[in-house]
Amino acid sequence: MDKALDTATIATVKNASWSGSVSHRATAGAEWWRSGVIYQIYPRSFADSNGDGMGDLPGITSRLGALVTLGIDAVWLSPFYKSPQKDAGYDVSDYCDVDPLFGSLADFDDLLTEAHRLGLRVLIDLVPNHSSDQHGWFQAALAAEPGSPEREFYHFAEGKGVNGELPPNNWLSLFGGPAWTRLTNIDGTPGQWYLHLFDSSQPDLNWANPAVQAAFEDILRFWLDRGVDGFRVDQPHAMAKAAGLPDHPDVERAGAGFIEGEASPPMWFQEEVHPIFRRWRAILDSYEGDRAMCGEAYVLPLSFMAHWVRQDEFNQTFNFRFLNSDWNAKTLFENINESFEAFDGVGAPSTWVLNNHDVIRHASRFGGLKIKPTDSDGVGPTDPQPDRELGLRRARGATLFMLGLPGSAYLYQGEELGLPEHTTLAPEFRQDPTFARTHGKRVGRDGCRVTLPWEAGVGAANGFNVTGASWLPQPVIYREYSRDLQEGVAGSTLELYKLALALRKDLRLGEGSFEWAEGLVEQNVLGYQNGDILIVHNFGHEPVALPAGQIIASSLQGMTAGHSLAADQTVWIRIS
Ligand code: NOJ
Repeated sequence: MDKALDTATIATVKNASWSGSVSHRATAGAEWWRSGVIYQIYPRSFADSNGDGMGDLPGITSRLGALVTLGIDAVWLSPFYKSPQKDAGYDVSDYCDVDPLFGSLADFDDLLTEAHRLGLRVLIDLVPNHSSDQHGWFQAALAAEPGSPEREFYHFAEGKGVNGELPPNNWLSLFGGPAWTRLTNIDGTPGQWYLHLFDSSQPDLNWANPAVQAAFEDILRFWLDRGVDGFRVDQPHAMAKAAGLPDHPDVERAGAGFIEGEASPPMWFQEEVHPIFRRWRAILDSYEGDRAMCGEAYVLPLSFMAHWVRQDEFNQTFNFRFLNSDWNAKTLFENINESFEAFDGVGAPSTWVLNNHDVIRHASRFGGLKIKPTDSDGVGPTDPQPDRELGLRRARGATLFMLGLPGSAYLYQGEELGLPEHTTLAPEFRQDPTFARTHGKRVGRDGCRVTLPWEAGVGAANGFNVTGASWLPQPVIYREYSRDLQEGVAGSTLELYKLALALRKDLRLGEGSFEWAEGLVEQNVLGYQNGDILIVHNFGHEPVALPAGQIIASSLQGMTAGHSLAADQTVWIRIS
């Protein structure tokens, strides 16, 4: 029998009061990425060593000790490559160099060495679906004739209409507007169109071209040779396009995306991508150590996503179902069941995630906002504002609930401080291309990307640097979330994260088991057991009586009076 299937299987449980529940068996002797906690660093906003307002690699290196104290296993660095920064670095103009904004290759090597010395693994972000329009490949394609090998690196096509004045198909950009831009020839006449599923500065690469495939295999080796522990892969489900680039069958309803459960559009999750990832996995596996790839495969339902983490493909994918969960017992019950069912079925770990650089921070999302996290529409000053206190209370409960789950968990920088979204950022500071492409209709993702407050009152950016410069200004309230004000302070959000991560490690919850707790699965309360730890969250307004046992962690300050669980509270109870 397949080894992974042997160690992680699913079975129906009798105790849960809703149907379709699952359990998960502990995984033994597994690789780090099956249970590890991975902390996302957004380099622009983490720490700034030279005071120019932009975070950088030496800044990250200088603060790695704080992440060790936090208790994570690995970091994932969002892009730091050479880039015109039209999409905050997800528009790469040289995949094998560091943008001077962030430092140099030598700075990267220092970061990696220091991380490894401290026992942290480092994943870097690979952006294969598109490059920057400033990449040498695209510049060469522009200079070359239609039909040339240079143009074959991307998707160039003639327009429709009598004079080619209409785009080649009906595809839309995820950032708003059409997914095609027309070129102007050197003599001033209108030329071919090129495809960009994101901004017009991010042309899509042609993954049907073996030369593109070979180029990326070299890029993988370049970074693996330097010692990285793996990759987070951007938009892998977009890389292959249906031959002939046919129209999206339902652009009216689905826009640039897809409607779950209905036929897949020609730009998403084409089967041709899978051999590419199999080759990548073989490359990773040919290196010593446990190198790993996590795919940002936005593919739902999870039974479908599970194809992406078959044994010889990605090691992990982000669990977008969990990230997108409405915070209520029934939805979470269903989503957790779906997760174990799908991922255990292929012997892959489920991941758990509540935040990243594309979604509204959960401390604001749970403060009464009616918005799906992955809509990436953001919140602006004229939108209804979240309830900060309620949001943080629920976010702490949600995190503690999540960190007890077996599998691998992702954290996004700043959530350990309880940072809210910056919801009042003025339009002149907005940098997300979504804002410009929709003329401000969608404010975009800048609100979750603001710089981190490390030391209260050290410059206007609270110790992000010493000058106070900040590429996105911090809201005044960030000062009160500064790390130094929380360090060692009982009940602070930072100490809650530290406690949960330390217990998770000591009790080996990441490699642990899962089953719903008898009598604690209903409308207002959800409980599960991981080994002899019971994890319970109260979704209702009334206190809930807790079973006997020793409370070892609580999302609300102080342990629980009278052994009952308050609204929005999560506790971990040792029951034997
Ligand atoms: C997903 C990334 O997470 C997002 O930030 C980026 O804008 C798009 N991919 C395009 O690369």
